[in-house]
Amino acid sequence: MMSSHSTSTHLVFLLLLLLGCLHLETIKLTSGNEDLNVGCVEKDRKVLIEFKEGLNDPSGWLSSWVGEDCCRWRGIGCNKKTGRVIKLDLTNPLCIYQLFYTEEGDTQVFNMSCLSGKINPSLLLLKHLNYLDLSMINFGGISIPEFIGSLENLKYLNLSNACFAKKIPPHLGNLSHLHYLDLHGQSNVCDFYGIYADNLKWLSGLSSLKHLDMGNVNLSKVGADWLQAFTMLPPSLSELHLPRCRLDSLPISLPFVNFSSSLSVIDLSGNNFNSSLPLWLLNISSLANLNLSGSSLRGPIPDAFVDMIFLQELDLSDNPFKVGEIPRTLGTLCKLKSLYLFHTNITGEITEFVDSLSGCTNSSSLEMLDLGGNQLSGHLPDSLGHLKKLTSLQLARNSFWGSIPASIGSLSFLKELDLFINPMNGTIPATLRVGHVISL
Ligand SMILES: *[C@@H]1O[C@H](CO)[C@@H](O)[C@H](O)[C@H]1NC(C)=O
Ligand SMILES: *[C@@H]1O[C@H](CO)[C@@H](O)[C@H](O)[C@H]1NC(C)=O
Ligand SMILES: *[C@@H]1O[C@H](CO)[C@@H](O)[C@H](O)[C@H]1NC(C)=O
Ligand SMILES: *[C@@H]1O[C@H](CO)[C@@H](O)[C@H](O)[C@H]1NC(C)=O
Ligand SMILES: *[C@@H]1O[C@H](CO)[C@@H](O)[C@H](O)[C@H]1NC(C)=O
Ligand SMILES: *[C@@H]1O[C@H](CO)[C@@H](O)[C@H](O)[C@H]1NC(C)=O
Ligand SMILES: *[C@@H]1O[C@H](CO)[C@@H](O)[C@H](O)[C@H]1NC(C)=O
Ligand SMILES: *[C@@H]1O[C@H](CO)[C@@H](O)[C@H](O)[C@H]1NC(C)=O
Ligand SMILES: *[C@@H]1O[C@H](CO)[C@@H](O)[C@H](O)[C@H]1NC(C)=O
Ligand SMILES: *[C@@H]1O[C@H](CO)[C@@H](O)[C@H](O)[C@H]1NC(C)=O
Ligand SMILES: *[C@@H]1O[C@H](CO)[C@@H](O)[C@H](O)[C@H]1NC(C)=O
Repeated sequence: MMSSHSTSTHLVFLLLLLLGCLHLETIKLTSGNEDLNVGCVEKDRKVLIEFKEGLNDPSGWLSSWVGEDCCRWRGIGCNKKTGRVIKLDLTNPLCIYQLFYTEEGDTQVFNMSCLSGKINPSLLLLKHLNYLDLSMINFGGISIPEFIGSLENLKYLNLSNACFAKKIPPHLGNLSHLHYLDLHGQSNVCDFYGIYADNLKWLSGLSSLKHLDMGNVNLSKVGADWLQAFTMLPPSLSELHLPRCRLDSLPISLPFVNFSSSLSVIDLSGNNFNSSLPLWLLNISSLANLNLSGSSLRGPIPDAFVDMIFLQELDLSDNPFKVGEIPRTLGTLCKLKSLYLFHTNITGEITEFVDSLSGCTNSSSLEMLDLGGNQLSGHLPDSLGHLKKLTSLQLARNSFWGSIPASIGSLSFLKELDLFINPMNGTIPATLRVGHVISL
């Protein structure tokens, strides 16, 4: 299929080769151990029964919570030898938010499969608990109970989207064995503001932490030294998620940048820094994933990516950076899989950047490149055809012109090519497998 267009027409097209690829999420059901010989300890069973009595369970998610052996109940895990309950995982994959359109705007609410209700403090008697997942249970705007900080054996604590409100109890800082702490909320899910913290000193007690998610937790009152609290986290820290925390300052320099070499994920997206992108962040060379999208970052994008050799995913999209070219050193990142620079005021041509990436020894890893909504111009370089792993190339709303290089037609994984609103005025290679073409 070859189409050729006259030089005078501006061709605007959108090519979507969306090969059906819906990933069905595996449903995890936790059950007791098959080869259990001890069975559930009676006092733990009583605690669970009391806990269940505090919950509304319209879909019968906990209907297996009957009978003597609580170790076989859904979501319960026991120590095989002692019969003590060590795991309580009430994640219900059928519980989802549904979006409703109201006069005030969109609101999301839990659907009828979700649990709701109260937390019975007798939960504290499950002294051996090391895994507690109460995510997506609608607790109706109560505070996170202080007693959770006394479940001292916890390694995993997930209280995300559980409709808690008010201040995070500093007691959580007593959980010195915790590896995972997820407190993230989602806006609009509960009909009140979510949780907040006005100081983060308690974080320093989490001396085994690997993964911290405080997305949407209101940290606006923590003040300018918020970052210092996170540098107190232990060297085991691997993921730090702080999106939409209402943080409004990002230090340009730090007296010390001692994030450990385990740190691989930083998400500071959706904050309101109104400052430039600090060099110390690009100096954390262990990072695989850095998300700073929508955080009101100004000034130039520093051309200082050369040490970020493990970087796989970089999202700087939607920031009012100073107009400038794509940083050269981004072209040296051969492990980069996804690069989002949508709406970042970048200008100039992409040839040098793409040429540089196509020089990667074992070919570039780039799968997703989103450069939409910028002021990029020139023609699309042939070397795009060397980015063999590309699945999605988003170039909409720029000023690219000329032809789509034939080399793009040989990208066998490419599913999506978006050139919407570009003054393209050349040819489309016959080898391009086109799903939809929208041309104006
Ligand atoms: C396409 O547009 C560009 C920029 O306006 C112009 O320089 C070029 O000559 C045009 N190419 C063709 C084939 O018309
Ligand atoms: C909640 O949503 C899930 C996913 O769409 C669905 O399977 C389930 O039936 C819904 N439950 C109710 C009670 O609507
Ligand atoms: C916490 O639970 C939510 C929802 O059940 C899940 O999406 C998230 O990945 C969990 N967090 C962690 C750190 O496992
Ligand atoms: C737990 O933390 C709180 C607040 O940080 C503190 O007052 C309390 O003494 C601690 N409890 C234990 C058992 O360490
Ligand atoms: C964030 O928390 C502060 C108190 O720490 C409060 O004054 C402010 O209203 C909160 N903002 C929102 C949007 O909840
Ligand atoms: C970073 O430095 C601070 C202050 O010197 C210290 O308390 C903290 O433990 C250090 N963190 C790591 C990961 O070394
Ligand atoms: C952002 O910072 C500049 C100066 O650094 C200031 O003039 C401006 O008012 C700030 N904008 C916001 C929204 O805070
Ligand atoms: C980056 O790291 C190097 C060595 O680890 C250090 O010398 C330099 O001062 C750091 N730069 C910034 C801006 O933090
Ligand atoms: C970065 O964060 C934004 C907002 O939190 C999110 O929409 C986006 O998907 C994230 N980017 C990546 C690459 O995960
Ligand atoms: C960058 O883009 C923003 C819109 O995101 C715009 O308001 C701003 O003026 C631009 N900055 C420069 C220096 O052009
Ligand atoms: C390239 O790939 C080969 C084989 O997979 C591997 O042995 C080699 O170390 C790789 N080189 C680089 C620079 O990654």
